[in-house]
Amino acid sequence: MDAVIDETLRLFPPLLFLNRVATEDYELKSTCITIKKDHVVHIPTYAMHRDPEYFADPQVFRPERFLSENIAHNPYTYIPWGAGPRNCLGTRLAQLEIKLALVNLVHRYVFHTIDVLLNHWSKVFPVI
Ligand code: HEM
Repeated sequence: MDAVIDETLRLFPPLLFLNRVATEDYELKSTCITIKKDHVVHIPTYAMHRDPEYFADPQVFRPERFLSENIAHNPYTYIPWGAGPRNCLGTRLAQLEIKLALVNLVHRYVFHTIDVLLNHWSKVFPVI
């Protein structure tokens, strides 16, 4: 279940990007880039999560990529909870809440894949 949640948050991170403001000039080592004081830096979470350089077949929902034996990505290319000293304080609580919500949904409803639904509705409404 953890892998399903991780993969869902890879494809659909609620915060699409993070922002930081430089409090002083900061040179990024081994590059020619200096971030000037007061400049805003956008960290593109959504784009990084769907970059094929970091995740093979990035548009495909594949929870297995988050199983411990398969994790290959750099931890800073997967940041649905942020990273570093200002990362999400509520990560553990949110993960627990997501699991409780999923358990309730699976308990109360029957889920079908979209192809099963399309097959069903195309018989009910042949124009679909
Ligand atoms: C799916 C649910 C959630 C997601 C994806 C999420 C994501 C994030 C992210 C990405 C940040 C970092 C923002 C940044 O670096 O600028 C953050 C910060 C934070 N989150 Fe969450 N969050 C979630 C739920 C929660 C919950 C349930 C709580 C509290 C009960 C919470 C409390 C906080 C707090 C207090 C911060 C600020 C930490 C700081 O600035 O030091 N979050 N969250």
